[in-house]
Amino acid sequence: MEYEEPKFFHVMQYAAAADGDVIDMVSGNPDWEPPAALREALREYADLPPADFQYPPSEGLRELREVIAERNGVDSDRVVVTNGTGEANYLAMARALDRNAGDEALLTDPVYPYYPGKTHLLGGEPTLVPTARDGGLDVDAMRAAASEDTALIVLNTPNNPTGAVYDLDAIREVVSIAEAVDALVVVDEVYDRFDLSGSFESALAIDSDRVIVTSGFSKSMAITGFRVGYGIFPEAHVDDAKTRHMLVNVAGARPSQYAVHNALVETPPEYYAKSRDLLADRVDAFTSALDAAGAEYSRPEGAFYVLARFDGFPGTMANVKRLVDEAGVAGMPGEAFGTARDEWIRFALVTPRATEAAERLADYFAGGAPDQR
Ligand SMILES: Cc1ncc(COP(=O)(O)O)c(C=O)c1O
Repeated sequence: MEYEEPKFFHVMQYAAAADGDVIDMVSGNPDWEPPAALREALREYADLPPADFQYPPSEGLRELREVIAERNGVDSDRVVVTNGTGEANYLAMARALDRNAGDEALLTDPVYPYYPGKTHLLGGEPTLVPTARDGGLDVDAMRAAASEDTALIVLNTPNNPTGAVYDLDAIREVVSIAEAVDALVVVDEVYDRFDLSGSFESALAIDSDRVIVTSGFSKSMAITGFRVGYGIFPEAHVDDAKTRHMLVNVAGARPSQYAVHNALVETPPEYYAKSRDLLADRVDAFTSALDAAGAEYSRPEGAFYVLARFDGFPGTMANVKRLVDEAGVAGMPGEAFGTARDEWIRFALVTPRATEAAERLADYFAGGAPDQR
């Protein structure tokens, strides 16, 4: 089997090697400060006794699991602390596909590319299901796609790349479709703190033993390098997830978990509100500059990304490289996210230079796409 490497690193490396000044709008790495309590905990950690430098419990530090459980209104036995949301997704998808309930994973189109990559890695077959034009869930399309072979449905809200925040009733309907075909539903909520619409509700509100919620602190605490996430599993599946986590990783990183625990307990809501507001301001500034560039774009309801479409300039890898070289802006090709947005390019707004980037795009596209002028 050949493993598929997601294209993010390829574009980032291309942009980094470019001659001129390039504004990086590829990665989802926040550029703002982590919570002060996280830095304090790290300083404290350096002076802890040697026992704190040894393996933590495989399923995560007990106190961290308890705070996560309390915040989410679930029993802490259901929480597995993972190496980022990425690992939580892997454990959840593996569990769904390992039950002899079929090989098919229904994924939304556009799709976060790690989901089809992981599906293949786990021996499953991804099927891309169209979403609504605004990126919202198309429940009828999901119903039409589901079959006895469907073992897994993966949803992500707020969504990367579309910025859609899914309606809880629509998720509830998808869960009943999953029940009918004996599938599990994984809901990746890693952008839960970046709901710009005020309408986000966690899928944990749905009373079902089919729902696995995954999330993490990479985005909410601006610490993608710390690798702390979690999965909240139904009772029937949590032990298998813990065992797989143990066999693959032994355990997660103790200093990261210690620091995240401290930050979770000590950080006031204003910290999260401030980063969300910063992002909302960037969305406003970036999209008005895109207006000036004559681009069509999606205004995100949540998460970090804007999808933009420039007439005569589809979102291919070749065009994205051209933008790096000729406009000094790096985005992600829409063709990396399934089939539904291959005309589009995704820009991550986690840079203080987002407005400058949109101005560069406006200059570049003044008078139309380069080949049409
Ligand atoms: C939808 C989605 N899920 C998961 C991840 C990975 O998150 P983590 O750093 O917590 O593994 C990302 C990162 O960009 C993401 O966009």
